[in-house]
Amino acid sequence: MPSCAKLWGINLAIQLIWLLRSCHGEDPYVFYDWRVSYATASPLGTKQQVIAVNGQFPGPVLNVTTNWNVVINVRNDLDEPLLLTWAGVQQRKNSWQDGVSGTNCAIPAGWNWTYDFQVKDQIGSFYYFPSLNFQRAAGGYGGITINNRKIIPIPFGNPDGDITLLISDWYIKSHKELRKKLEEGHDLGAPDGVLFNGLGPYRYDANVVPENVNCLLVNVEPGKTYRVRVSNVGISTSLNFRIQNHNLILVETEGSYTVQQKYTDLDIHVGQSYSFLVTMDQDASTDYYIVASPRFLNSSSGGSAAGVAVLHYSNSQGPVSGPLPVPPNDLDPSYSMNQAKSIRWNLTASAARPNPQGSFRYGQIAVTDVYVLVSRPAELIDGKWHATLNGLSYFTPSTPLKLAHLYSVPGVYKVDFPSRPMNRPSRVDTSIINATYRGFVEIILQNVGTTVQTYHLDGYAFFVVGMDYGMWTENSRSTYNKDDAVARCTTQVYPGAWTAIMVSLDNSGIWNLRAENLNSWYLGQEVYLSVLNSEKDSSEVRLPDNTIYCGLLASLQRDQSQRIDFSGMQQLPCISSKTLVALAVTFLSLILNSDSIFF
Ligand SMILES: *[C@@H]1O[C@H](CO)[C@@H](O)[C@H](O)[C@H]1NC(C)=O
Ligand SMILES: *[C@@H]1O[C@H](CO)[C@@H](O)[C@H](O)[C@H]1NC(C)=O
Ligand SMILES: *[C@@H]1O[C@H](CO)[C@@H](O)[C@H](O)[C@H]1NC(C)=O
Ligand SMILES: *[C@@H]1O[C@H](CO)[C@@H](O)[C@H](O)[C@H]1NC(C)=O
Ligand SMILES: *[C@@H]1O[C@H](CO)[C@@H](O)[C@H](O)[C@H]1NC(C)=O
Repeated sequence: MPSCAKLWGINLAIQLIWLLRSCHGEDPYVFYDWRVSYATASPLGTKQQVIAVNGQFPGPVLNVTTNWNVVINVRNDLDEPLLLTWAGVQQRKNSWQDGVSGTNCAIPAGWNWTYDFQVKDQIGSFYYFPSLNFQRAAGGYGGITINNRKIIPIPFGNPDGDITLLISDWYIKSHKELRKKLEEGHDLGAPDGVLFNGLGPYRYDANVVPENVNCLLVNVEPGKTYRVRVSNVGISTSLNFRIQNHNLILVETEGSYTVQQKYTDLDIHVGQSYSFLVTMDQDASTDYYIVASPRFLNSSSGGSAAGVAVLHYSNSQGPVSGPLPVPPNDLDPSYSMNQAKSIRWNLTASAARPNPQGSFRYGQIAVTDVYVLVSRPAELIDGKWHATLNGLSYFTPSTPLKLAHLYSVPGVYKVDFPSRPMNRPSRVDTSIINATYRGFVEIILQNVGTTVQTYHLDGYAFFVVGMDYGMWTENSRSTYNKDDAVARCTTQVYPGAWTAIMVSLDNSGIWNLRAENLNSWYLGQEVYLSVLNSEKDSSEVRLPDNTIYCGLLASLQRDQSQRIDFSGMQQLPCISSKTLVALAVTFLSLILNSDSIFF
């Protein structure tokens, strides 16, 4: 038997190491309490139920800096289960905090759950949203801004202000009614409108916009330059973003600094985020329109009104009137794709780390695995509507994949997702991709439907190396951009077209690859990549103490009222990590210098 002193020593060393881990070095912690509940709003002039965070719709912007630790206690005051997901936050080796059905049990109505994650080695503009049950159609979303650390300069002059704009298609029907329509095989039809930060359009046309609609007023000072962060947080509509008489200088897309280029308008597809620099260089003879108008809507389903906010200079001489700035022509399919291809990575700019972005030479890395994923529109499978990738529609098991894996629960999922479409009838299954840790993967997303789709991968940024109309073939590789394709986490795939992405699988965990378009996602168009580090998962963050159990593991769940509160632990002072390492080493060497410690 080891002596008490030795046990005590080992224990203390372990505790010190734990403390060291929990402090993640000396990176700051920020704490939030968020209550997610229903609220009443009338964005389009009709009263309806929306989802608010701390009573706000949209929710607060999560404004943090590279490497900060974020602790958010989320209370679910909805009448159905809730998970928030932080799309674009990579959750390094920590898919436990990802907040999707494959990684977490949902927070039951009336419960709370505390997320605890680090925005490790990241900068940029993203957004969070409720990931289950079509809830994003009712709101619950908010911006995420990850600022550069002071020691790493941004690749442009410091803007005079920072503006977050969340644009979204919007329906007056509730998220419950909308999802029911989808289950019954109906199209949702054209949206009832487009919102800016939860607000309806400015009354630019009395025939189109009712009287009692509040719109967003963006106040600016003449001559100043603002960083405008725009995310499409909507359901399924691509939106063309433009500001009357003002240039948009694109500088960032989902955590990558781009080559700074001028646009008069940009198509922003569902789930995508961009930062623009906008200089207030006009004469302010009136206010100006800020527009987000639907793209590629089926006009026979009755086109819908644009989202319109107002850019108001402090010296403005009056309200804006007249027609909206003209949108691009919907009948020209090349305009939008060429625009997407024009977005390039700035190879010399530094992002979250001091080394330039271009020092990661993705074009020279050998591809280890290729996946061709064909997405098809919704179809009837065994009497129910489903959307598929490679003929498989994802069935959400009651036990999250991550928990089933950790506890070796058999039969929850299969690791046999086909790397190419199969010549067999479509079906519903829980089949995931056996991805190779440290592999370099090429994924071709082929859209054989008639609407624009977007795909999002959790845990990673991927390189968008190519896209074109038609079917992808091996020859398509000759068109890939192997040099300065942008790294991002959400890409569009045009109808009848393909998009090729490449990703370095250096982040262990189980990660969601999904249609960010809610219609397709809700009907099962998603898959998970199991990226397991064969060194016994040793590099992954361990199961959180506050894990919620459900499904086949529900018996492990304690009643929430009897739960031990671990939150106090995080408030321990973060002693300098050097001191901690020194202490831990001292204790370990004390132990190792005495007789056998193996027992
Ligand atoms: C976000 O945080 C940064 C630094 O912590 C601060 O300078 C900035 O003003 C904040 N931005 C907003 C919009 O609150
Ligand atoms: C729920 O919130 C309360 C404070 O509102 C907190 O004390 C408790 O730790 C939280 N529970 C969990 C499981 O996060
Ligand atoms: C356009 O909408 C109409 C009516 O909803 C539908 O019948 C038609 O198939 C749609 N066309 C396309 C190309 O989606
Ligand atoms: C690229 O980033 C550098 C900073 O390293 C910046 O000075 C330069 O203007 C950027 N180039 C373009 C074309 O945006
Ligand atoms: C995944 O692939 C690896 C390497 O090809 C293989 O060793 C492993 O057995 C596979 N795992 C499963 C669950 O199929």
